[in-house]
Amino acid sequence: MASEERIVPMRLQRFLARAGVASRRGSEKLMTAGRVRVNGVVVSELGSKVDPLTDTVTVDGQEVRLAERPTYLVLNKPAGYLTTMSDPHGRRCVASLVPCNKYPGLFPVGRLDADTTGLLLFTTNGDAAQQLLHPSRHVSKHYVATVEGVPTQHELDRIRGGIMLDDGPAQPAEVELVQAKAQNNTSVVGITLKEGRKHQVKRMLAAIGHNVVKLHRDTFGPLGLKGCKEGAWRMLDEREVASIEAIVALGKQR
Ligand code: URA
Repeated sequence: MASEERIVPMRLQRFLARAGVASRRGSEKLMTAGRVRVNGVVVSELGSKVDPLTDTVTVDGQEVRLAERPTYLVLNKPAGYLTTMSDPHGRRCVASLVPCNKYPGLFPVGRLDADTTGLLLFTTNGDAAQQLLHPSRHVSKHYVATVEGVPTQHELDRIRGGIMLDDGPAQPAEVELVQAKAQNNTSVVGITLKEGRKHQVKRMLAAIGHNVVKLHRDTFGPLGLKGCKEGAWRMLDEREVASIEAIVALGKQR
């Protein structure tokens, strides 16, 4: 897992490169030139390892540290949990499902209603959370909703065109009828939003006359729930972290 990888001993040249001192090759040259010390001792052997948490590394007498990398994980949220890190009334909240003691400062990016299940991203990076939630980032979220009755294409077209809600028009959203269940007069609808207003999916579907009876989010931007059963969490892998950080970096350029 990405975060575990950060804290195990690593090759000194990799440590130097990760800390931004020089490229991997440039770091090797610094080592062989005798300019790198670990705990005060010159280390010039290229396979040498360093523990970023306990060893003090210097280059030409200047201490070098790894920037603390933020933690990112996804939770497959079960129903019945509030999206909050504590609750004064003692209700169940998502904090009890994620390793917040191990990763202090972990918090959810946005929220899911207590009865909504599915993908909830957590991070220790407040900056990233702000960017990912900003409407101008257009991060897509896909939901699977079970609704009362069977929406007609005409009704779904109202959502596709940008339906009016009580707090203003929703952006046009992709929506499709996945399955109609005649036996209990419900149906399953897939809907993709790029904004995240309170109870938005429920309000959009209620506005076309189909109350949501069950709601699940299965994607958040490039992230999915693969390998993550209900109630479980997993770290993002390096590729996923890079894709999240690319969205954040794009936002900062604007
Ligand atoms: N829209 C809703 O209505 N509820 C959620 O939990 C998420 C999106």
